[in-house]
Amino acid sequence: MILPIRIDRCQGAGLSDQITAQISRLIFKGVLPPGRKLWSCRGLARDLGVAVNTVTSAYSRLETEELIEARPRSGFFVSAKSGVHTDMPVRAHPPRPGGAPITAKLNRCAQTEKITTIQRPKDWRRYPYPFVCNQIDEADFPVAEWRECSRIAMARKSVNLWSADGDNDDSPELIEQVNQRVLPRRGIFAETDSTLITLGSQNGIFLTSYLFGASGSVAAMEDPGYPDARRILSANFGKVVAQPVDEEGLIVDERLRGVDLVYTTPNRQFPTGVTLSDRRRRELLEAAEAYDFYIIEDDYACDVDFRPSPPMSLRASDTADRVIYLGSLSKSLAPGLRLGYLNASPKFIAAARDCRSMVMRHPPFLLQHTAAVFLEQAFYDGLLLRKKRDQEERWNIASSALGSQVSALKFTGAFGSTNFVACDPEAKLDAQTIASEAASHGILVEPIWPCYQQEGAGRSRFRIGVSSIPRDRIAPGLDLLNSTIDALRSSL
Ligand SMILES: Cc1ncc(COP(=O)(O)O)c(C=O)c1O
Repeated sequence: MILPIRIDRCQGAGLSDQITAQISRLIFKGVLPPGRKLWSCRGLARDLGVAVNTVTSAYSRLETEELIEARPRSGFFVSAKSGVHTDMPVRAHPPRPGGAPITAKLNRCAQTEKITTIQRPKDWRRYPYPFVCNQIDEADFPVAEWRECSRIAMARKSVNLWSADGDNDDSPELIEQVNQRVLPRRGIFAETDSTLITLGSQNGIFLTSYLFGASGSVAAMEDPGYPDARRILSANFGKVVAQPVDEEGLIVDERLRGVDLVYTTPNRQFPTGVTLSDRRRRELLEAAEAYDFYIIEDDYACDVDFRPSPPMSLRASDTADRVIYLGSLSKSLAPGLRLGYLNASPKFIAAARDCRSMVMRHPPFLLQHTAAVFLEQAFYDGLLLRKKRDQEERWNIASSALGSQVSALKFTGAFGSTNFVACDPEAKLDAQTIASEAASHGILVEPIWPCYQQEGAGRSRFRIGVSSIPRDRIAPGLDLLNSTIDALRSSL
């Protein structure tokens, strides 16, 4: 039999762990059935080019887990006690002709499938010039610090802090850290019962929309705006009003009369990058009172804003408790951690906690506890300082490259963010055409038409993000983008 085990020396997992994992997989797949004799330690070590001890240690773990057993003077065998049923055929589910499609039974959420979100290839990191927006450079993730916090969180005496069923509550340690160290940066001085931990801001948008939504209720959101928010609002409200945006951010006018919930991104309008002006902030809070609506403030990129003094949150001036504030660690730490927070009036928090409990009870305590330690040990403060410095440098490189090299493009890019919005000044070139042609040269840019509610709007505009592309590729990538657009234009 050809040896079905491969060692990958570039993998994070150790050699012995790789052998353990692969042999157990072969046992569970039935390739190694109960009673089958395994390779000798010496023979397997020789074939894999590893030390005999490495194989012995893998076998010893498999033996402890009772997947294999040692027989005196005969070697190692797959255990009959493994509990693996290799005699059961894998059930395939071919579609039954004429059978009712399951989708016909699904509720209105399914209808939001037709709302397109920002598209990017799954393997975007493999592209030489990934100008994708709001992603992190994975090299910046503070692996050593996070590992240290995991170690502290996993200490035997801390196990009781995260292992029990949490009764729908959050980790009090994380709530304390968010309230004391994160929210005050945005001008929010919170009580314990006014903050809820979420699985990212997206989770907060959903909880809020679910609670306010009904078939007869109306939501409004920025147009252009965050397409995922449009999907969530559309899934929960009878109607979603598209409220236009100008150079001061969301326009506040009569069209908001009769609305129940307004979704907005005041600090950094998505996708234009505009900051909501002071005048509009006042008008929005006044309109909320006058027209009796509530506001989702999605402060998605607040922690990495590198302006010396970015404006405080809308929630900071919300004396009437009209604002449901959402923040997240996705842009600063990592989106894959799925950690966010929601701050609002205690009554709303109680309702949101109740709603959250129906779906997940609470975000995993181990994650919450590790994050609490990360904040408490001031690792987060250090990370933000480095991150902001890095993002500012990226912005400087990109804006000077865009200013000098990509003269063929009209662009805007607010200081404090890492995204630029660009278009062909004569609007002859469609952003999707530019993006497709650029992708064939290894450059990824993001057309923003999915951010517009009206079909066909925003077709000429695309975003260039510089938060995650390797820094030394920003200028050459923009240079290549310039020549790609030039070539496209001359082929018109
Ligand atoms: C405007 C906006 N809001 C919310 C989110 C969701 O963020 P999170 O990862 O915190 O759920 C994103 C993600 O990119 C975003 O761009």
